[in-house]
Amino acid sequence: MDETRSNRSQSERLYDRAKAVMPGGVSHYFRYRDPYPFYVTRAEGAYKWDADGRRYIDYKMGSASQMLGHCPPKVVEAVQRQVALTPFTADCHELEVAWAEQVCDLYPGAETVRFVNSGTEATMLGLRVARAFTGRDRVLRVESHYHGWHDHVMKGARPGNDGPPSLGVPEAVSALVTVVPADLVAVEEALGDQTIGQVIVEAAGANYGAVPLPDGFLAGVRALCDRLGRVLIFDEVITGFRWSPGGRQARDGVTPDLFTMAKILTGGLPGGALAGRRDIMAMLDPGESRGGFSPPVLHQGTFNGCQLAAAGALAALEDLKTGAPQAHADALAAALRDGITEIMDRRGIEGTCYGESSVFHLYFGACENRSVAGLTAQQIRGTGKKLVAALRDELNARGIDLMSAMSGVTSAAHSNQDIAESLEAFDDTLGVLQSQGLIT
Ligand SMILES: Cc1ncc(COP(=O)(O)O)c(C=O)c1O
Repeated sequence: MDETRSNRSQSERLYDRAKAVMPGGVSHYFRYRDPYPFYVTRAEGAYKWDADGRRYIDYKMGSASQMLGHCPPKVVEAVQRQVALTPFTADCHELEVAWAEQVCDLYPGAETVRFVNSGTEATMLGLRVARAFTGRDRVLRVESHYHGWHDHVMKGARPGNDGPPSLGVPEAVSALVTVVPADLVAVEEALGDQTIGQVIVEAAGANYGAVPLPDGFLAGVRALCDRLGRVLIFDEVITGFRWSPGGRQARDGVTPDLFTMAKILTGGLPGGALAGRRDIMAMLDPGESRGGFSPPVLHQGTFNGCQLAAAGALAALEDLKTGAPQAHADALAAALRDGITEIMDRRGIEGTCYGESSVFHLYFGACENRSVAGLTAQQIRGTGKKLVAALRDELNARGIDLMSAMSGVTSAAHSNQDIAESLEAFDDTLGVLQSQGLIT
């Protein structure tokens, strides 16, 4: 073996193997990196380690699913206990009942719950149930809000583009979707179309809240849906168990008709759920019959509500329902946001670090009072690929990993020391990006 080849990292070697057997070498396109991604071998608390033994302070946290940190002992023990009893039998079991009871206790909008396998499945089911209930096929959605990757939510998922961001999405499906900006006047005008039966909104605002919702938007859409007779779906896949134990709806006092959950819902295991009003959710009841269909809405799924995820979820909920993990993570995210903004001030960098709850977002460019208010989704999310890649690589080199693009989340496991260490890495990184002329 020649010198260059023997010096290659474990991650580089793994990527060579991956490329031969997986498209682009990855299971999710966000994980694709040029020249190669790092491969993770283990994670604990706020940290993860790669195949070459490097430690990262993690602000990706399983795409915001690991709210209690990686491998919280309580969840690990519950999952280990359950896997020995059975990970899954495809039968009814007590754990799913207890899990649904807890969701109904915590969420004002949850009268009944149906478990699914991901956030994507939850929004897919939500739209099917809503369409069955309203008898109207057209969906109103907000520009650039993300609801997973199924065909019915592709149109309008990319800011500034009214089409689907992918080949393979049938035009006939996209034709059933109306896209509006996050603006109540636009929503009201669009709802003049009587073929629209349901409205879906990402409760955080687009992309984990990178594009914040205008003040009063959720309450305003709620009032419009009540007045004009439409079913309102909140996508709480991000906000659920993070914005508060009862999601954004409990925190803000605005109750949707249906809503989706995933990520933290399962204690960080695969899974998701749709919940909502009893009369609408009854569409899924095999004891009900409508128009010759019983159940009115057909929904299957081998692993729905599996014992393993239910056991992890119940263990995690013991902590999540207290609100303490959320309060801790919120305070640390606020410290990180303030610290990064101070660095920008000191270095004279245009932009801001902002966000709600335990999320932080970076924006580089002109803005008023270090706020993204007034900027469009396209402006906020339009950062060039070169800058995004340089930011990620410089932070990775200093042992920090963010979520995709320019956002991150804190968890119950992050500490003040992690924030202090991270701020040093951000300071150095922003200095490098400035010296390269990538930010001004
Ligand atoms: C708001 C929102 N909805 C839906 C989804 C899709 O969830 P999943 O990736 O579990 O399919 C995501 C994923 O990040 C999300 O952020």
